[in-house]
Amino acid sequence: MQNQITIALLDSICWLKDPVSWPNNTVHNWLMERKSMTRKLENYCTRISIQRYCEGFFSARALGAETNLLPTSKRLWLREVVLYGDEKPWLAARTLIPDQKITGSAKELMQLGDMPLGRWLFLNRPPPRDFIQSGRVGSLWARRYRLFPNDQPLLLTELFLPDSPLYTRSGDDPYKLKEEIVGSKFNPK
Ligand code: PHB
Repeated sequence: MQNQITIALLDSICWLKDPVSWPNNTVHNWLMERKSMTRKLENYCTRISIQRYCEGFFSARALGAETNLLPTSKRLWLREVVLYGDEKPWLAARTLIPDQKITGSAKELMQLGDMPLGRWLFLNRPPPRDFIQSGRVGSLWARRYRLFPNDQPLLLTELFLPDSPLYTRSGDDPYKLKEEIVGSKFNPK
């Protein structure tokens, strides 16, 4: 139930107009990250996992205004997940893909199961991104962006939940932090 509420927050995001007034560079850097968010988050925990809440085809009418950010399609593939870092909910994410565009390797996206999407999207170099927008739900930060893996458009929305390192460990250098975590495991004090 708790997680359904978390997923529902994705519908409450207020999207901001540019230029966004960032509270600091760290928030800006998290929101504008070009590479895999999963990989970035991995630097702050020992285990990333996801729980899927919704996966399947829905009509454009049922999905609402967000579908206008994608090529017209009667049906779209929807995937909604909560991503956990060491069992703490860090991110709520929604992916939308127009049905007509799901050909070839994009079909793999529909068979990811519990594998985080980023592991597939960022297997090689980051796919082209032509649109990104930041948003807020209360004090939480969110972003949505359009990617073109193999020339096939998809829209990804990510909401950073209160336990996310974006808020809690924002000043840390993730690479240094990872060394500290790994180091402390093997050299307990
Ligand atoms: C997903 O698996 O759907 C997913 C995971 C992490 C993200 C976005 C989407 O940042």
